[in-house]
Amino acid sequence: MDADEKRRAALVESLPVASEDTPLMAQLQEDARRRIELRGRQFPKPAHTRVITVANQKGGVGKTTTTVNLAAALAQSGLNVLVLDNDPQGNASTALGIPHHAGTPSIYEVLVEGAPLSEAVQESPDVPNLWCVPATIDLSGAEIELVSLVARETRLRNALDQYLAWRIEQGQQPIDYVFVDCPPSLGLLTVNAFVVAREVLIPIQCEYYALEGLSQLLKTIQLIQAHLNRELHVSTILLTMYDARTNLAQQVAAEVRTHFPESTLRTTVPRSVRISEAPSYGQTVMTYDAGSTGALAYLEAARELAERGAPSAGVSGTGAPDEASTIQQATAASTVELEAQ
Ligand SMILES: Nc1ncnc2c1ncn2[C@@H]1O[C@H](COP(=O)(O)OP(=O)(O)OP(=O)(O)O)[C@@H](O)[C@H]1O
Ligand SMILES: [Mg+2]
Repeated sequence: MDADEKRRAALVESLPVASEDTPLMAQLQEDARRRIELRGRQFPKPAHTRVITVANQKGGVGKTTTTVNLAAALAQSGLNVLVLDNDPQGNASTALGIPHHAGTPSIYEVLVEGAPLSEAVQESPDVPNLWCVPATIDLSGAEIELVSLVARETRLRNALDQYLAWRIEQGQQPIDYVFVDCPPSLGLLTVNAFVVAREVLIPIQCEYYALEGLSQLLKTIQLIQAHLNRELHVSTILLTMYDARTNLAQQVAAEVRTHFPESTLRTTVPRSVRISEAPSYGQTVMTYDAGSTGALAYLEAARELAERGAPSAGVSGTGAPDEASTIQQATAASTVELEAQ
């Protein structure tokens, strides 16, 4: 253990022990522990660029919030991170404070017009080592325009491969993490995101119906695996908007952990006002209020993601055929169980 580790361990040790019956005190203590353990810590660099697509066709489950906050947390810990905003809503661009008015070079020009990614990359105004390719309103037409184009499913992958090689040629540092934020649908934009990535991160909101639709998502991932990208697998599941006070959230979390024991991160992201306020200031919660419970949860999740590396394809949650049917059964069972209460 080096001196920094020892100092952190001693500080954590000195924290008072909170009783289980005082949830607020327990939360404050957990925040204090995370602050001591995580702030200013360097996370491990992956051996190769990890390309992670953040997907769930269900809307409003925390895809964009997860994308931008994990990206910012990893960049703050010294890694080079690129966010591809692949959603016509442009929410990731907004949250990262990246201009994305009509006419801005964006992911649309890359996907539809074949422009180099380097022409659309912008640097984050707040976080060093963080870049973003924004989405403009033009992207809303891309779903239809892509249909008639050559290599319509692999356009994003080709563009990213070229960009990563170009950076090295230019003598720039390699990118450690690429996050792709997806729209809430399984159309060609999401297919491009599945083809460019090796890993899928699925945010699951701890609410009723959380597992519904998941089997469809897993089936799509399975099809992509079979036909377009053999390496693709669900490496990570993150429980979002978790409210520990409700039985429902606890049940959904337990259900998800039972079916995806390996891929589900230990860290859950709580429902937090600071997280939801941050985008209106063009910021992630990591810069808007770095000491808040929400920011510390994303920092912890980022550390877990970085430390676990990418589990190899074939572990639970890969979308294998039996996995999809397990989820279908789980969805049906949990619906019945929850209705009975
Ligand atoms: N942990 C959280 N606590 C409180 N609010 C949150 C949290 N995570 C996300 N939100 C809010 O919930 C809403 C939906 O989140 P977000 O935009 O990240 O979801 P999404 O899956 O990207 O949505 P879409 O499917 O429309 O792209 C946003 O208003 C966001 O600020
Ligand atoms: Mg979104």
